[in-house]
Amino acid sequence: MTAPATVALIGAAGHGAWHLRAIDALGERVRLVATCDVQPGFDYTDHRLMLRERRPEVVVVCTPPHTHLPIALDVLEAGADLLLEKPPVLSLADHRTLAAAAEGRALQIGFQALGSPTMDRLPGRVGEVTSASVAGAWWRPDDYWTRSSWAGRRGRDGALVNAFAHALMQALAITGIRPPWTLSLDRYRTRCAVEVEDTATLRLDAPDGRSLFVAVTLCSTEFVPGDISVAGKDGTCEVGYAQDRLDGEVLPGRTGLLENLLDHRDRGTPLLVPLERTEPFTALAEAILAEGPPTLLGPDRLAPRPDGVEIPGIAGLVRRAAAERAHFREIGAFQ
Ligand SMILES: NC(=O)c1ccc[n+]([C@@H]2O[C@H](COP(=O)([O-])OP(=O)(O)OC[C@H]3O[C@@H](n4cnc5c(N)ncnc54)[C@H](O)[C@@H]3O)[C@@H](O)[C@H]2O)c1
Repeated sequence: MTAPATVALIGAAGHGAWHLRAIDALGERVRLVATCDVQPGFDYTDHRLMLRERRPEVVVVCTPPHTHLPIALDVLEAGADLLLEKPPVLSLADHRTLAAAAEGRALQIGFQALGSPTMDRLPGRVGEVTSASVAGAWWRPDDYWTRSSWAGRRGRDGALVNAFAHALMQALAITGIRPPWTLSLDRYRTRCAVEVEDTATLRLDAPDGRSLFVAVTLCSTEFVPGDISVAGKDGTCEVGYAQDRLDGEVLPGRTGLLENLLDHRDRGTPLLVPLERTEPFTALAEAILAEGPPTLLGPDRLAPRPDGVEIPGIAGLVRRAAAERAHFREIGAFQ
């Protein structure tokens, strides 16, 4: 048996707790040598000092999105392999910088739904994929938008690039659509202090006819999970990316991204989410940022609740937009 890989976690206090459990679940395969967070209570507050003193072979980075690039560069410079949380970076220029620094190292990005067994089974159901559409309606209360320093900030957060990031990345991977593409967006927000969209539609059309449509909101008291309807040359099917559901059947056997990274180091198993696979997601994040602030919906469109703001009827609008592949503005919503 190979010796346990030494692992460190940078960004341990937030979602990092999930990674600590994932590290623990790998048992003898890994040895946690350090935790690091700028908040007290962990082994280190300075990740550079930690990298110098503990020399981990593998590092998990789970810090806020805008800190990913500098920390990732330090980790790669120190000679470690890296599991970097999503979104890896926020611009294509940063993507290229990171890709160059990762030459000769293993770099996995934390879109964990790409380890889903549904991905292997899908082609057998639908054949060559021609289109996908996502309908998601969730409720996020006011305090969601103050949960951390980067919550609600331009280029870092938002229904498309954060809350529904896994749905978006999964749909990009399922359709295989990459730039150049034709992108159109229709984005709204319900809170003046929040710079990003909480409600949006997105349409992507590839030159060869493949298409992707996303309709999402965080202002719905009726829950629509964000499943992906996939159409191919031989059929259609419904993918529940969060629970590995394919047409309602939950498939066992999701591969964890850290485990896959260890398999890659030990025996050359291909990485499930190499940086290159996420380039279309970063291209979208960059385009969404470039579009500027979303439209602020007026109070006449909203129903205040004790803990937040609801858009009445939004779940129905999300379903309709996704079914018709039509932007909210094209189906007469919010006018
Ligand atoms: N894959 C998923 O399902 C999933 C789920 C939640 C969050 N995330 C991603 O994980 C990352 C962290 O999200 P979060 O919700 O935990 O954010 P957060 O802001 O709550 O926590 C990030 C942690 O990083 C720490 N930190 C900040 N700068 C640091 C630095 N220079 N060195 C060490 N620690 C530092 C903070 O103190 C905090 O404890 C984000 O990229 C987010 O998108 C992924």
